[in-house]
Amino acid sequence: MTIDYDRYDRIRPIQWQGDHLLLLDQRRLPFETVYLRCDSAAEVAVAIRDLAVRGAPAIGISAAWGVVLAGQSVQAAHGAEAEHAMSSQLDALNASRPTAVNLMWAIRRMRAALRAAGAEWREVIAAEAEAITREDLAANRHMGALGAAYIAAGSGVLTHCNTGSLATAGFGTALGVIRAGVAQGRISRVFAGETRPWGQGARLTAWELAQDGIPPTLIADSAAAHLMKTGAVQWLIVGADRICANGDTANKIGTYAHAISAKHHGVKVMVVAPSSTVDMSTPHGDEIEIELRDARELLFSGDRRVVAEGVDAWNPVFDVTPGHLIDVIVTEKGVIERPTEAAMRAIFQTG
Ligand code: MRU
Repeated sequence: MTIDYDRYDRIRPIQWQGDHLLLLDQRRLPFETVYLRCDSAAEVAVAIRDLAVRGAPAIGISAAWGVVLAGQSVQAAHGAEAEHAMSSQLDALNASRPTAVNLMWAIRRMRAALRAAGAEWREVIAAEAEAITREDLAANRHMGALGAAYIAAGSGVLTHCNTGSLATAGFGTALGVIRAGVAQGRISRVFAGETRPWGQGARLTAWELAQDGIPPTLIADSAAAHLMKTGAVQWLIVGADRICANGDTANKIGTYAHAISAKHHGVKVMVVAPSSTVDMSTPHGDEIEIELRDARELLFSGDRRVVAEGVDAWNPVFDVTPGHLIDVIVTEKGVIERPTEAAMRAIFQTG
């Protein structure tokens, strides 16, 4: 069944303007739609660090355009010389967030394109960033169809964090499957978890799906197990920030708890992510660096402290769901059911 992308795919959070980058500032959604202008790689790195742009694929795409911006600040006769000249800017981009592997993947791909380029290196890296963007959108649309095929008509689904157009070049990963599933009549109800503490589900997913005419039902993250017990959802559908060689998957904090609850209640777990999120060089989840963010995200609501003075907080923003809790990993290169290292290697062998 074909999908009306004009209806389901309208948001473009990353817009290259020929000499600067515009990022839809996700800190200000849902009530203000404001684009942040970046004229340098350093500004892109800050935008990634401060969550103006977030979501693993979107971080990678923004960083790729950050490399193009870095190129505007150097003079070089060929690509290898340019790479050397902008190396510290690329390292800063690479370090702007630690968990989503799409960031390191994009910088590695941009560096390789630069090294192989001659005098026309500026055009080469702009074309590479454009290709990364285009390929991500195509992957999402393909994964939407692959993932939706698993969902029986009339199902309810729960999603976590924001994995939609806002987090990608467009259409989304887990939200792409949900969009396709709704369009095909397979999904009759969508629940979105708030995603404390930053509220990606409450502020971003709810807004994004409402634009499509699929307003989700919002739940507190802590309501997920109870929701599953009612029988209202048949699938937990989430994205990923890094998928290891054995299928262990890092995603937004709370995903692991949802997956445990899902197993307990017979709810199936689907992870949807492009191959740029697969990291075959990390054997298992214990080796993934989990980003710790400022305790203020828990202690404050906006500028107002909501927790007693003298109390501190621990704020890991990702967790790892073991591969054995996942029923299906959907990528644009293929679908892996009940992931094992052998099944992952069959699709993603790096040689
Ligand atoms: O901290 P964030 O908002 O960048 O975390 C985002 C997530 O965890 C998403 O689920 C993941 O990046 C997949 S986005 C398609």
